[in-house]
Amino acid sequence: MLEPVSPLDQTALDALGTAALAAIAEASDLDSLAQVRRDWTGDQGVITLVNRRIKELPAADRAQGGKNVGAVKQQVFAALGERQAALEAKAAKLRLAAESVDVTLPTDRQPIGARQPLELLQERIADVFTAMGWTIAEGPELEAEWYNFDALNFGPDHPARQMQDTFFVDPPGSNLVLRTHTSPVQARVLLTQGVPCYVAVPGKTFRTDELDATHTPVFHQVEGLAVDRSLTMAHLRGTLDHLARAMFGEGAVTRLRPSFFPFTEPSAEMDLLCFVCRGQDSTCRTCGGSGWIEWGGCGMVDPNVLVATGVDPTEYQGFAFGMGIERTLMFRNGVADMREMVEGDVRFSLNYGVTV
Ligand code: DAH
Repeated sequence: MLEPVSPLDQTALDALGTAALAAIAEASDLDSLAQVRRDWTGDQGVITLVNRRIKELPAADRAQGGKNVGAVKQQVFAALGERQAALEAKAAKLRLAAESVDVTLPTDRQPIGARQPLELLQERIADVFTAMGWTIAEGPELEAEWYNFDALNFGPDHPARQMQDTFFVDPPGSNLVLRTHTSPVQARVLLTQGVPCYVAVPGKTFRTDELDATHTPVFHQVEGLAVDRSLTMAHLRGTLDHLARAMFGEGAVTRLRPSFFPFTEPSAEMDLLCFVCRGQDSTCRTCGGSGWIEWGGCGMVDPNVLVATGVDPTEYQGFAFGMGIERTLMFRNGVADMREMVEGDVRFSLNYGVTV
């Protein structure tokens, strides 16, 4: 610390001033400048102490002493003020630089993916049935021929065995197939759970189709089976109409059209009024001009199925249906090409939200 020199010693005062200015210039940040300010102009600061010595001077010299010290003080305060402003500006600049965001940097955010829309739709369909008090069942995709065909009233030489474009499984005689429909779960449920039963079975099915805009060798169905003491075709119709409205909105229009399946009698196809032309355009490409689109098969459970699964057909009857899930997604969301559903491109799935 420098000595508080005499206010009349101009040379010493000049040296003091020079030292103070050098200390101020050396302060490289606001904290060290605050320290310099305390050292020189604080309560016990060098200049403060020199200033105090003015009153020790003989009365005649006090004016000169005051003038001398005042000049140094002015210089030092001016320098402190300037340095303060400069250091504040520098600190602000550093802060801004530290806080700045480079919007051109590549992001490190991970895409979170999306659920497959066919999976989501199967869950929604299951919810519709659960809300009606039905249960949900599953069955194996690698299925015994007996469940896939025999129990469902397909005789050993029934042409429908071939009609279904079955994937038979090696070795020959294994009696195993990739299930061609979800209907074998009907037999499994009746054998294991008995009656009455109300069960829906969403799941994967397989047929030897080439992949194109309207076919895929791996597809999905939702099977429904209700067996009880007084079920009629009206219950079937009401259930499917409810599903249609839940899937396609209140305005969905359906019709039943006579058909044939070995495991139902009578059998029908459930059609939906074309969602594109609503039956108004004979050149419509979606429905081929018929005004209707096939959604799935259904009917009253054939008594032979009940017999094969140990249920008394004189006491019980039931209805069943199998609707295509891919078709449901196509109608619901206007997907024109089935391949989009199986390619697994997340950009397709993201359109359906990232629901967990
Ligand atoms: N399993 C049939 C198919 O894949 C669809 C079907 C028709 C299921 C009638 C049923 C039914 O339960 O009653 O072509």
